[in-house]
Amino acid sequence: MSIQKIAVLTSGGDAPGMNAAVRAVTRTALKKGVQVMGVIRGYNGLIHNNMIELTEDAVSGKIRDGGTFLYTARCPEFREEAGIQKAVQVCRDNGIDGVVVIGGDGSFRGAQDLTRHGVPCVAMPGTIDNDISSCEETIGYDTAINTCIQMVDRLDDTTMAHDRCSVVEIMGRGCGDLALETAIAVGATAVCVPEIPFDFDKDVLGRIQQAKANGRTHFIIVVAEGVGGVVEMAKKIEEVTGIETRGTILGHVQRGGSPSARDRILSSRMGYYAVNILLEGKSNRVVATKQNDIVDYDIEEALSMKKSIDMKMYEMFNVLAQQ
Ligand code: ADP
Ligand code: F6P
Repeated sequence: MSIQKIAVLTSGGDAPGMNAAVRAVTRTALKKGVQVMGVIRGYNGLIHNNMIELTEDAVSGKIRDGGTFLYTARCPEFREEAGIQKAVQVCRDNGIDGVVVIGGDGSFRGAQDLTRHGVPCVAMPGTIDNDISSCEETIGYDTAINTCIQMVDRLDDTTMAHDRCSVVEIMGRGCGDLALETAIAVGATAVCVPEIPFDFDKDVLGRIQQAKANGRTHFIIVVAEGVGGVVEMAKKIEEVTGIETRGTILGHVQRGGSPSARDRILSSRMGYYAVNILLEGKSNRVVATKQNDIVDYDIEEALSMKKSIDMKMYEMFNVLAQQ
């Protein structure tokens, strides 16, 4: 079947670089004579027939914008068979021959469902969490880590000024990559991630006490969202060590901002690649990076891959953190 018209949507949590990805998808398709529809608010827009035509001009300047100009959503209706059927019908009614889905692994499952119902899909990993096992680096991760570094550096200024300890929560749902790499990049005293068991007395309190004994006067403890308990940890640290301690949850600022150079380029490469494979007739595929090359996997295969935290990075952090 020759592809005349495709749709592109962003789904799940937004990530910097999603706009750059939509731009790349649009420009690549238009250059090949394929019409492009931008679906509004992820799968919601597919179910409710909410889409706009994307022209060269519509994506002009979008490479530098954070968020997603197509909006995004979490759409419970699309998890039900009736919702999927509606979306498939909307695709048929609009003459859509293929869909590019930009989101996390939940969104990939949606793409798999659409493909199963006869709408070819290619998915791209867009999430700040870097929690896609098939992909070395997701769209948005690089920008988010740079934001985290900037924010924690600011936190460190005031922490140092008051001889305090700050316990800071970094996003990442179940994945500790953002927290671990932030901890390395800001020179934290300790890091807690969900993938690696830790002993609070030894690995957090013990490290603070040892660093204090060696003359350190301020401390940053990075805690991944998947571990949580920042406020309780801060209270405990203050009680046991006598160091005034504050808890900070960085929150959704981590998701915003203009994409970094790396994310703009990754989004462009992936968007270009996604359209090319869709037009070649591939479907039910996830675009990914492997040794900095762009590759693609079957969605099921990609979803069954296991993600693990980089233990060498963790070991290095432990050596470099001041004791
Ligand atoms: P992410 O894509 O960031 O992991 P979610 O898990 O919230 O975010 O998924 C985004 C959307 O993808 C959901 O709101 C839903 O519409 C769709 N989705 C998630 N899981 C499934 C599933 N198992 N089957 C069909 N659609 C799904
Ligand atoms: O997946 C991205 C992410 O920001 C996670 O790090 C976080 O757990 C979640 O989304 C927050 O979701 P919400 O936007 O619903 O608050």
